[in-house]
Amino acid sequence: MYTQALDIPDSRQAGDLKAVEAPSAQPALQAHFEQKMDADHKIEPRDWMPDAYRKTLVRQISQHAHSEIVGMLPEGNWISRAPSLKRKAILLAKVQDEGGHGLYLYSAAETLGTSRDQMLDALHTGRAKYSSIFNYPTLTWADVGVIGWLVDGAAIMNQIPLCRCSYGPYARAMIRICKEESFHQRQGYESLMVLMQGTPEQRAMVQDAVNRWWWKCLAMFGPPDADSPNSAQGMRWGIKRISNDDLRQKFVDATVPQAQVLGVTLPDPDLKWNEARQHWDYGAIDWDEFWATVNGNGPCNKERLATRVKAHEDGQWVRDAALAHAAKKKEQAMKEAA
Ligand SMILES: [Fe+2]
Ligand SMILES: [Fe+2]
Repeated sequence: MYTQALDIPDSRQAGDLKAVEAPSAQPALQAHFEQKMDADHKIEPRDWMPDAYRKTLVRQISQHAHSEIVGMLPEGNWISRAPSLKRKAILLAKVQDEGGHGLYLYSAAETLGTSRDQMLDALHTGRAKYSSIFNYPTLTWADVGVIGWLVDGAAIMNQIPLCRCSYGPYARAMIRICKEESFHQRQGYESLMVLMQGTPEQRAMVQDAVNRWWWKCLAMFGPPDADSPNSAQGMRWGIKRISNDDLRQKFVDATVPQAQVLGVTLPDPDLKWNEARQHWDYGAIDWDEFWATVNGNGPCNKERLATRVKAHEDGQWVRDAALAHAAKKKEQAMKEAA
């Protein structure tokens, strides 16, 4: 999934903004880079790029990759409890897709000269951010459908513009990811449609899940434009194409009619069609809660990180075996060549 606040600095990276403003020591290369930006050409791994552009991309793509693999946890929690074999198979495939998204994105970030070990170490030691939406619990089966519909839905809104990102490997990874996210969104919606045709308890379960996730999904688009200092530079570099607030509005406008068809109420008394703006107006987002969660104090931050670290440690034997196998193959190949 899941870019949200991808322009939010990781811990110990507060100096990045200064780096963004630093003038280039290599004016000719800088000019060539700017020309490519103006012509909307892609930047590829071997091209010269300003340090701040590289750092911003490493931060954004690695945050995105971390979000994909941490995002496997809240839904993975329901694989063993899915209500039918069909739902289990769908959920298993979706969670595997998210793992795959993480792998494409770590690979894209590695082309910028940062190793996967470095990125994972930043995640596991709590220095790197991931989407704060995954720091909330999945309390009922309806949460799985709502995550597909709203969380993947918000992710698609955020990610489609990234298919046109100026950095080639990231843009190309996003094309495939968006196709899969689109399926995730539809399966979530379909699952909720089925529940809404069920018993009053099932309908209430869906409404309760919508109530708990709606505002968190709106916050996924990141802080308001006025409080999002990295956004302007991201736009100039062709990394960000549409502002946080514009993306949020597009998401609200697309989702309200879907909620009406589904038969659920979005928990916002200020949600009203604005004829003059031709958009839905919506109420105020609780940014204090958002920042508390981003900064490590959400309900599941510690649990998510501990689960990730344990999974990594438990997988050490697989990495060791793969390295031993590769070394053996290399030795065999050298013997055959001799
Ligand atoms: Fe997804
Ligand atoms: Fe994903």
